[in-house]
Amino acid sequence: MSNQAPTDIHVLLICGGGGSEHDVSLRTADFIQRELASAPDIRLTRVTMDADGRLLDDQGQLQELRSDRLLYSATGSAQPVHYVIPSIHGYPGETGDLQSQLDILGLPYFGCGSEASKICFNKITTKLWLTALGIDNTPYQFLCANTPGEVAKARDALQKWGSVFVKASNQGSSVGCYKVSSEDALAEALQEAFALSPYVLVEKCLKVRELEVAAYTYEGELVITPPGEVCAPTDTFYSYEEKYAEGSRAQTHVVAEGLSEAQLGWIHEASKRAFVGLQLKDLSRIDFFLTDDGEIYLNEVNTFPGMTPISMFPKMLQNQGHDFSEYLAALIRGALG
Ligand SMILES: Nc1ncnc2c1ncn2[C@@H]1O[C@H](COP(=O)(O)OP(=O)(O)O)[C@@H](O)[C@H]1O
Ligand SMILES: [Mg+2]
Repeated sequence: MSNQAPTDIHVLLICGGGGSEHDVSLRTADFIQRELASAPDIRLTRVTMDADGRLLDDQGQLQELRSDRLLYSATGSAQPVHYVIPSIHGYPGETGDLQSQLDILGLPYFGCGSEASKICFNKITTKLWLTALGIDNTPYQFLCANTPGEVAKARDALQKWGSVFVKASNQGSSVGCYKVSSEDALAEALQEAFALSPYVLVEKCLKVRELEVAAYTYEGELVITPPGEVCAPTDTFYSYEEKYAEGSRAQTHVVAEGLSEAQLGWIHEASKRAFVGLQLKDLSRIDFFLTDDGEIYLNEVNTFPGMTPISMFPKMLQNQGHDFSEYLAALIRGALG
């Protein structure tokens, strides 16, 4: 613990964002708020960002974060902000946009920087980086427009692979992600995916085990947990409902069973390469597919993983013997110390 931090650290927790993952972001913020409640030196103020980028307090009153690093209320009173927690999955938090604003204001914040966030939120740039870093990822076809020439590439991919995942490039939480096994369904899926993102991927559909690693900085060291496992119900994939709905049938295991030393070793190495190579900061959840044929593909890097009661990231950290509130409070103190 640093002794140099100011005695009262004013932390601004920004949640919501008005995008497709607004509600999940509020649940993650609930978790963070609970965890920080016990830190004696941290004074947390929570605001919700709406779809117009306005910040509202819990009474619905407008708050404004200005370039003097003060948070102004509608009545004109102001309080300092020393550190920000952007608790926003998807746009504009996990996409790096809010982080750019915070960089301009000169405010330190929890989580990955703007550049890493942007690269990892885009499923295509992620793949280009992973390949550059020597990390295998799922075979795919990239489409940059919903034009006949590009659609022909998607049809070829469907023919070659039999069944594919059509994915909007810039979405998370399985939004804009469609499993397609027929040409009829392909056009519709492409239409929907292009309505959500400027680029679309058509990925080979694989029969996989889904493994997830928490990679985070604890006491200045990079920690990479052993993989946990998410088991989606057999009749669907790990969809938005299975991730967050009350009746989710997905099962999670904080430690995946039956993996060989070689598989564990490669997952560790690939996670480290991704964290270091992509210059991630503070936290990430790195997701892998283990295929029927024993191939290991890195599926995606989540720069701001979910922290709802059923989420993997906090569970894996806890399983590693780490206390989340200590972890986060130490990062906050360290950023200001
Ligand atoms: N190529 C694939 N083969 C098999 N299942 C897939 C494939 N791609 C995605 N899935 C399923 O869809 C889910 C969501 O896909 P993912 O790429 O992780 O998007 P998101 O960023 O929305 O989480 C995965 O967790 C998995 O269940
Ligand atoms: Mg995913």
